[in-house]
Amino acid sequence: SVEKTGKQYRPSVHFTPPTGFMNDPNGLVFDGTQYHLYYQHNPDAAYSANICWGHAISTDLLSWKDQPIAVPDTIDGQAFTGCAVLDTHNSSGLFAGSHGNNIAALYTRARPGRQTQFLATSRNNGQSFEEYAGNPVLDIESPNFRDPQVVYHEPTRKWVMVIAQVDQHNIGFYASNDLIHWTHLSNFGPAGLPTVNYECPNLIQIRDESGALHWVLFVSINPGSPMGGSVTQYFIGTFDGAVFRPYDAILRLTDFAKDAYALQVWSNMPGGEAVNIAWMGNWQYCQELPTQDWRGAMSLPRSMTLRHDPNGYLRLVQVPRGIESLRHPMLTEQGAYLPADGRREIALPRGKAIEIVIRLTADESRQTDPNASGPVIERFELAFANAEGERLSIGYDAPSTQIWLDRGKLRGFDHPFFTGRFAAPINGAVYSNPRSVDLHLVLDGCAFEIYANEHLETATALVYPERPLDVLRLETTGVGFTIDSLAIYTLDK
Ligand code: FRU
Repeated sequence: SVEKTGKQYRPSVHFTPPTGFMNDPNGLVFDGTQYHLYYQHNPDAAYSANICWGHAISTDLLSWKDQPIAVPDTIDGQAFTGCAVLDTHNSSGLFAGSHGNNIAALYTRARPGRQTQFLATSRNNGQSFEEYAGNPVLDIESPNFRDPQVVYHEPTRKWVMVIAQVDQHNIGFYASNDLIHWTHLSNFGPAGLPTVNYECPNLIQIRDESGALHWVLFVSINPGSPMGGSVTQYFIGTFDGAVFRPYDAILRLTDFAKDAYALQVWSNMPGGEAVNIAWMGNWQYCQELPTQDWRGAMSLPRSMTLRHDPNGYLRLVQVPRGIESLRHPMLTEQGAYLPADGRREIALPRGKAIEIVIRLTADESRQTDPNASGPVIERFELAFANAEGERLSIGYDAPSTQIWLDRGKLRGFDHPFFTGRFAAPINGAVYSNPRSVDLHLVLDGCAFEIYANEHLETATALVYPERPLDVLRLETTGVGFTIDSLAIYTLDK
């Protein structure tokens, strides 16, 4: 019988809270030795209430050690989303006599009818925080003003805060010398998709393939995703210390499925490396997921770069960071061929995180055959399956150069908003052969991630099979495919 606690769904490589409910990542900071991951947390029940900051630390962003609650829910309100920075030069004046890492957190205190921004400092390396006596440091008398993220802007030598004016549909930019006094600079938006709420802005510089730096502004919105519910958008442009100006009017999303929300970036990364993590969840169903003891998972940490895609659009490239160190090879091969309407099965171990890296090339298309009649159907499908008929399918449609994800044939969770199918154009092949595609997949308990087309496309999806998916099926329709390379790994910490 299926366990009611959902133990079988708990990922081994993706971060999950020990108990209770988790949503957004918060306070992501590297302190010189350790990475901190704080998160929106209700430790007492697996739904959103009495939110505080949970905490975990890591030296590699993959193995996490749970820590005590870092910022409690108080009489001033729940501890909503925010950031952490290192106030190395004690610009706030609040770290006098401190010998540790000067970790300062800025977050929203949320009580009914009012959301204000609080500053707190830690003298024990992020274990706990003392709230600044003069809080709030920013209050515009708004019921929906939240999720501050702060970066240090070198050219103007100021701290810059981005924050969501949730109902006005814009992102406020503020500046400060001391993290305490904040002056309004500008607003960005409305921009992107029409929605109800703007949330969780994040501003960061990211390098493109030539090494040039660009400012990227992430804006989460909920609901209003084209896939339904919550989604993270991003804009690429310039930032002069006061105003963010996007280069173009193109709307970009970080993901083509629906479980990558509230994306946040680590501050103080050596060499300016850009690394994010997103909450694997969607407000449409996150409080009803079929795991009773705990709800919520984080995506893998992802390194970010920008790249011009074959159409000349600058796009985000996300690569799971450091998982090579967890790999145990299960199968490696090159140049295998699966003829048209071919089938192949590979047994998978149960209860282990699986990573698959595959590159395929479809044979020449019947589309180019002048004598061909009927529709041209040319597909490659890869499915994590079981003998009970469940199937988590990923595939490539060669004539239209689109990939799909289908979680709709899994039976462990039924909800009107838990929709099954997602697709993405691969937007002009990055290879010299436009009939080629690459897929990089990670399946880890309920956490499933797809990276495709040299990591230009990402899909993040929660998956709930009723029974373990213990066989991998490779299938072709209408045309043969060369499996240029295939590597299957189990991932172990
Ligand atoms: C985003 C969000 C934030 C808020 C937090 C509350 O998922 O709604 O805007 O600060 O979650 O937990």
